[in-house]
Amino acid sequence: MEAIRFSNQTLYLLDQTALPQEEVWRAYTRYQDVKNAISTMVVRGAPAIGITAAYAVVLAAHQYASDTWELFVSQMSQAISDLNAARPTAVNLSWALERMKRLLFSPKEETLVLDALLEEAIAIHNEDIQMNQRMGAFGADVVPENAGILTHCNAGALATGGYGTALGVIRAAHKQGRVSMVYADETRPLLQGARLTAYELQKDNIPVTVLTDNMAGAMMAAGKIQMVVLGCDRMAANGDFANKIGTYSLAILAQYHGIPFYTALPVSTIDFSIEDGSQIIIEERDGNEVLNFFGVQTTPVGVLTCNPAFDVTPHHLLTGIITDQGVLYPPFDRHIAALSRR
Ligand code: MRU
Repeated sequence: MEAIRFSNQTLYLLDQTALPQEEVWRAYTRYQDVKNAISTMVVRGAPAIGITAAYAVVLAAHQYASDTWELFVSQMSQAISDLNAARPTAVNLSWALERMKRLLFSPKEETLVLDALLEEAIAIHNEDIQMNQRMGAFGADVVPENAGILTHCNAGALATGGYGTALGVIRAAHKQGRVSMVYADETRPLLQGARLTAYELQKDNIPVTVLTDNMAGAMMAAGKIQMVVLGCDRMAANGDFANKIGTYSLAILAQYHGIPFYTALPVSTIDFSIEDGSQIIIEERDGNEVLNFFGVQTTPVGVLTCNPAFDVTPHHLLTGIITDQGVLYPPFDRHIAALSRR
């Protein structure tokens, strides 16, 4: 399964706001529209928005290709900083844009820059799929036999270049016959678990049960869950990490019940420049996403709410970190520092 395609100077995104009811591919030729697609979550998930932004830089380069080199570079700088502002928490966005920027500002040859940018975007895309597959292989080894696995939000093929991070681990473990059931939290307010994780797993014939977000404790207490594995939007150098709102509560519940708790992420999701999770910017989204349920207002008019899209889980609640370079255990800061990075 894939959610991002690029051909003939056009970016195609599988509209994740319409899933699972409709599978609609939207076509983009202007970077401004791609920025909007990231902000409105037509495409979402940390690695997926990084890949999408890289292709958006290619689109911008075509938009400005007929300008002089100086004007081209200044328009491209503006495009990159616009794209970088589309969503603030997932570091893959700035990581991918940084890679594109490096090429742009030190081109081997100015006339070849369009080709070089496209090659780099394709490399970012392909490398992500390969990292997910490696993560799947490493992660499957830590999945207990006959496991009930809880996951949150969607860290699957839809959230990445393909295969998925947490769902990549689940896919690989399922192939080895280790998975008895995947429990997918519905993930309020936008239901990425109920809509997207359930959709992906059902398509792959992996058994999935959708839970409301408030069921996790009871399911753990009932002995249904042997492992939690979920994604990551930004990890600090000490292993603190931001992921979809609700992750922190699950980490505490897992620790209380003695259940192994893992996050799975490619090295592109680690922000080596920040020491701990207090430095992660948490995206605050429109409160109407909470006050309404798919277009129907469910609260009294005028009531207050808040809508942080992510929370930060401290590293000491993690059993391990599943990366494309292996599974890391404490002390996380030392093992994270030893990872090779691009
Ligand atoms: O708001 P979203 O849907 O972009 O949030 C996605 C998540 O929190 C994922 O768990 C995370 O990006 C990892 S995806 C491999």
